[in-house]
Amino acid sequence: MNSFNFDELIVRRGTNCAKWDEAPNDNVIPLWVADMDFKAAPCIIDALRNRVEQGVFGYSVVPEKYYDAVISWFHRRHGFDIKREWMLYTTGVIPALSATIKALTQPGDKVLIQTPVYNHFYSSIRNNGCIAEECPLAYEEGKYSVDFAAFEKQCADEKVKVFVLCNPHNPAGRVWSADEMKKMGEICHKYNVRVVADEIHCELVMPGYKYIPYGSVNDDLLKYAVILSSPSKAFNIAGLQIANIVCYDENVRRAIDRAININEVCDVNPFGIVGVIAAYNDGEEWLQSLLSYIYENYLYLKELFSKELPDFHVVELQGTYLAWVDCSALKLTSRQLSEYLLQHNDVWVNEGEMYGQPKGHSFIRINLACQKARLKEGLSRVVAGIRQLQKA
Ligand SMILES: Cc1ncc(COP(=O)(O)O)c(C=O)c1O
Repeated sequence: MNSFNFDELIVRRGTNCAKWDEAPNDNVIPLWVADMDFKAAPCIIDALRNRVEQGVFGYSVVPEKYYDAVISWFHRRHGFDIKREWMLYTTGVIPALSATIKALTQPGDKVLIQTPVYNHFYSSIRNNGCIAEECPLAYEEGKYSVDFAAFEKQCADEKVKVFVLCNPHNPAGRVWSADEMKKMGEICHKYNVRVVADEIHCELVMPGYKYIPYGSVNDDLLKYAVILSSPSKAFNIAGLQIANIVCYDENVRRAIDRAININEVCDVNPFGIVGVIAAYNDGEEWLQSLLSYIYENYLYLKELFSKELPDFHVVELQGTYLAWVDCSALKLTSRQLSEYLLQHNDVWVNEGEMYGQPKGHSFIRINLACQKARLKEGLSRVVAGIRQLQKA
């Protein structure tokens, strides 16, 4: 039994909320962008309330207790020992990624990504004058894995300077094992490719799986890596805009710091600092309850699809709160499908095409992080829309 009420329906429409207020009409149930419909943990709300009551919102410094909170969390929860001097902060994981790419590449270089993958990886690469080198994940019998032969071949291209790992992987739902990461890391080292691990989804792991920080696999991997994270996804505080970079290599860290300054993303706001400290110091119990709730939502979706639409495979969700559903049975592009669902059924899901999925697959991404009542209604609309399309 949850001691936190994740069933409480929160009105987000009319609050300048991207997920709800960008919908084309007020009946739409939004199951798209990776943003949860739950209130933040009470410890975060209390800390922010105290900060608001102080009443002055000038420029901030990041205090030592911020670093202590991050270091202690990763030690306690993930057995990853981060040193204070390895850390930098900035205004988000994508700003962190962009600064890291700037620091590690020259325009015209290639950055390796494993598709389908979070769409902003493409823009961060492009905005730094680089080229996205796509290495599709293997998709066999409904499961994603790394095609190591293809991965090595692409790393061997001397234009490839950086590999961006997404751990856990959005949208494929994979939580990478230590063995897989070790193998990818060793290939990268062989060809002098730096590894940047985006671990923003790191707390969002389903029963039976364990998030292993890339930097904790072994010292060799740590020394050559840049690790990006934030409690923003797991604690639903993305709007507070703050993220951390962990980089062991001093020269690389300096170059990233410089890039953060060049990009003018070196100042975080007072609420971000307070939010991170509260999440990492006091948010663990809330997080555990949240994970159970999301898992129940995932089981509901899986059951619904296996009963109502058995030809539509739900990829196993090991991590994240984003279900990835194979709709290739429909013979439509995922864009056509998602547009149809939005226009005819008032439900908004993400089309797989935006993640650069390998040709031939048509997936949609469904955000499970909402109240069960809304999820049920939203999914019943997805099922109804797909049924209509099957008959057409
Ligand atoms: C893998 C991944 N990285 C980064 C982000 C965005 O990070 P931020 O809002 O901190 O820039 C997201 C958001 O969904 C994501 O899925």
